[in-house]
Amino acid sequence: MMKLGCCYYPEHWPEDIWTEDAKRMVQMGLSQVRIGEFAWSRIEPSPGQFEWDWLDRAIAILADAGMEIILGTPTATPPKWLVDSMPDMVAVDEQGNPRKFGSRRHYCFSHQPYREQCRRITTAMAERYGENPAIVAWQTDNEYGCHDTIVSYSEAAKIGFRRWLADKYDHVDALNTAWGNVFWSMEYRSFDEVDPPNLTVTEPNPAHVLDYRRFASDEVVSFNKLQVDILRPRSPGRDMIHNYMGFFTEFDHHTVAKDLDVASWDSYPLGFLEQFWFSDEEKLRYTRQGHPDIAAFHHDLYRGCCAGGRWSVMEQQPGPVNWARYNPAPLDGMVRLWTLEAMAHGAELVSYFRWRQAPFAQEQMHAGLLRPDSEVAPGGDEAAMAAADIQQLGQIGETAKSVALLFSYEAAWLFEAQPQGQSFRYLELVFEMYSALRELGLNVDIIAPDAPLDDYKMIVVPSLPILSPSLVERMAQMNVPVLFGPRTGSKTADFAIEADLAPGPLQQLIPLKVSRVESLRPGMAEKGADYDVTRWIETVETDLPSDEALEDGRGVVFSNGSVRYLASWPPAPLIKRVFADMGKKAGMAIYDLPRDLRIRQLGDLHFAFNYGTEDIDLTDHMQSGKLILGDSLIKSAGVAAWKAG
Ligand code: GAL
Repeated sequence: MMKLGCCYYPEHWPEDIWTEDAKRMVQMGLSQVRIGEFAWSRIEPSPGQFEWDWLDRAIAILADAGMEIILGTPTATPPKWLVDSMPDMVAVDEQGNPRKFGSRRHYCFSHQPYREQCRRITTAMAERYGENPAIVAWQTDNEYGCHDTIVSYSEAAKIGFRRWLADKYDHVDALNTAWGNVFWSMEYRSFDEVDPPNLTVTEPNPAHVLDYRRFASDEVVSFNKLQVDILRPRSPGRDMIHNYMGFFTEFDHHTVAKDLDVASWDSYPLGFLEQFWFSDEEKLRYTRQGHPDIAAFHHDLYRGCCAGGRWSVMEQQPGPVNWARYNPAPLDGMVRLWTLEAMAHGAELVSYFRWRQAPFAQEQMHAGLLRPDSEVAPGGDEAAMAAADIQQLGQIGETAKSVALLFSYEAAWLFEAQPQGQSFRYLELVFEMYSALRELGLNVDIIAPDAPLDDYKMIVVPSLPILSPSLVERMAQMNVPVLFGPRTGSKTADFAIEADLAPGPLQQLIPLKVSRVESLRPGMAEKGADYDVTRWIETVETDLPSDEALEDGRGVVFSNGSVRYLASWPPAPLIKRVFADMGKKAGMAIYDLPRDLRIRQLGDLHFAFNYGTEDIDLTDHMQSGKLILGDSLIKSAGVAAWKAG
């Protein structure tokens, strides 16, 4: 059964309230607690001088109350004495400015002496607590990349990049050829001449940028692995977890997850709605709920990260946050809804950030389950309600595979390096396709391009600019509806145009060639039947008839057997029609859900979530079945669940 938990900072509170806190957590229905991830200055106040007593007592008190503990390594917050002892350990931004001490994440992933310090503190913690029966899992560091900290232009990163290039290319001539450095006399005579791609006069070579992004991502992978390799042998049987972020593509989460047991993420639906690309209309409509697909998108993405499909929510927004432009309170019911929605997507844990609102420092305006005066905040009441619902629903099975959506971090880096039109944003493209699938009531698994495809009934590839021949071969073996989106197969692995033009190797599955591409500025639209194409349109040469065409006759969707190609940014009505057709051909039930309603199936349970401010009559949107939670008139911010049959 899904567990509930919270993030707790005993070092922020007088010791005489720890016991009461632990007791109240249990009363609220929580059973796991994450601690420690920012506590370096209290664990090691000066070099080599460890103070474990307070943490020993905190762990004992929480454990005595019956709480299971997730212990964080404190490497996201190196203390002042450490930074002062090696001032060049900080990351350097694109403008060449070092990031200073005074908040968090002030380190560069490539700084080898800092890695030594991480090794030291992680080893010390693992040796002290690795076998402690209360510790059930470890969280490595905290939110890799938060505050724009993946790509660093430091001296340490420069040295690391040169080594990475030498490993990859062996000889600098190979690098010159791969990047096309004859262009603008950019050729190098040795790897030691290559710098990070910042502060160039005009744009740097996109192949240079893409390799730098690959390098930066690999640095995160090895940084994380360093900690996991210390923790695993010293803490047998405990889960290795990292807490990923929302709408974040700066490193390859699939590769990092190869070293983890559980991929967790930090869910702040209202903050994400406010900070990302959503329209003003959407921001107002969903201001207290979050867009109906924000949380689900990440649940489905992170479920696809660890080999066993294990995932959780390490931080759940319990009320207003402090960090978005505007920070409204969730509608009554939303904290419960978000919790149960994570359950409907198969989470093992939803842990609220944080137990009690801090009265001091940067996050004093960030709500907790308790107010700063220790009274229960609205989020705390809803956590308790969710705990009761989870008990009522009992054990739930697993879901059969239905739609696979292929997601590539490398694609995000490539399109950032060369968007060819400001509004061509990969994450948005993927999200729009995901939303269209959800509006049809489909269950989606977001998976890596090299993940197994067996048993999926339908496959969506929003775009895969570097298309591996092996994926094309695997697709050729499948006989289920597949859609490839714009710019698929348009680039080689070295970031050059495919010799046969786009869609490159995909031409083996569908005989067409993209002869010209255009990006469209806001306000420009190419007219189709019941839709406008915006942002991006391709001209396609082919003998195939088109399935969907613009008024001027240019084809937008083509198909060859079960394979479809979409030659534009996806207009909502068009993509829903195409997906509905694919889904029906695949034998899946297709719904036409109202804008604010989402459904999901887990085992033999069906869930419905109302993201709107009005009641919705569910009867039209549920197949026959017996309601076991909620009513068929589903209230604003309400949840219903029923068993099919
Ligand atoms: C997360 C972070 C937490 C806390 C929280 C506030 O990004 O991991 O430490 O800062 O945001 O919403």
